[in-house]
Amino acid sequence: MNNIKELLKEQIEFTDGYLDKYLAEKDNPQNIIYKAMRYSVFAGGKRLRPILMMNTCKMCGGDVNEVIPFACALEMIHTYSLIHDDLPAMDNDDLRRGMPTSHIKFGEATAILAGDALLNKAFEVVSQYNGNNPQRAIKAMNMLAVSSGTEGMIGGQIIDMENEQRSTVNGENLRMMYALKTGRLIKTSCVMGCIAAEASDEQVKNAEEYAHCLGLAFQIIDDILDVTGDEAALGKPIGSDAEENKTTFVTLYGIENAREEAVKLTDKAMKILGRFDNNEFLIELTKYLLDRNY
Ligand code: IPE
Ligand code: IPE
Ligand code: MG
Ligand code: MG
Ligand code: MG
Repeated sequence: MNNIKELLKEQIEFTDGYLDKYLAEKDNPQNIIYKAMRYSVFAGGKRLRPILMMNTCKMCGGDVNEVIPFACALEMIHTYSLIHDDLPAMDNDDLRRGMPTSHIKFGEATAILAGDALLNKAFEVVSQYNGNNPQRAIKAMNMLAVSSGTEGMIGGQIIDMENEQRSTVNGENLRMMYALKTGRLIKTSCVMGCIAAEASDEQVKNAEEYAHCLGLAFQIIDDILDVTGDEAALGKPIGSDAEENKTTFVTLYGIENAREEAVKLTDKAMKILGRFDNNEFLIELTKYLLDRNY
């Protein structure tokens, strides 16, 4: 297999080609909204969720082309969640993907609307699906709506906000909140990839279990990077969690133990991948994410 970094670069470019098409600017009076949407989407980003969707699909024997609109929709929802996460009313951060955050660049009102517009665009794109299985688009819309909503990402974000005022947050509370704010979209990426490949129920169950471990490990490493990371590499501010009085895996357990937990979860995730054939890429990706610096 080629170097994981090269493979990721190729897949990022592949995804970005479609995002560029779906988010084409229009020369009309509201043109600024397109500029703001594109600014945040193309600021960078690992494209982890589309890459997970495409590769779980491949791993289960499916055709990657079948998931492109769903993968792009998920990335739009993810980017919207970041724009709103950075707002002064939420984490109040001024750097994202190595660029000034949307509200710093365009002002708060435009940032809010750019996030909203990306959410709408995601559903517009999925509703225009004209692939082999129209039923699949309906299923995808349902999964996207649920996993980004009150029982998913938004559910996690509201608990995250409320926790800033609590002094009694424990490990169990954190795991639950992480599974929602970060884990749910990661799980949806993996499950949608399986569904597009017409994977068996058993495979879907395994993919869910894998994504659960990966999602938790991913957020724990994010917590660690917020303390130990290099701002230039990370592309977002260091120390944001402390500034916002967040309880994180680092504040609860310390950096060493948090890292150990992420290692354990990563090992478990890789074991679960062992239940699949053609798992080489995802194994490499899972390892890579543990040691990432951004
Ligand atoms: C950031 O997600 C938010 C978290 C869930 C920790 P990513 O680390 O995937 O951000 P991008 O897409 O690469 O910018
Ligand atoms: C955010 O978690 C998860 C989202 C749903 C956006 P964080 O607030 O820790 O993400 P970063 O560190 O700002 O990327
Ligand atoms: Mg946050
Ligand atoms: Mg944040
Ligand atoms: Mg963070």
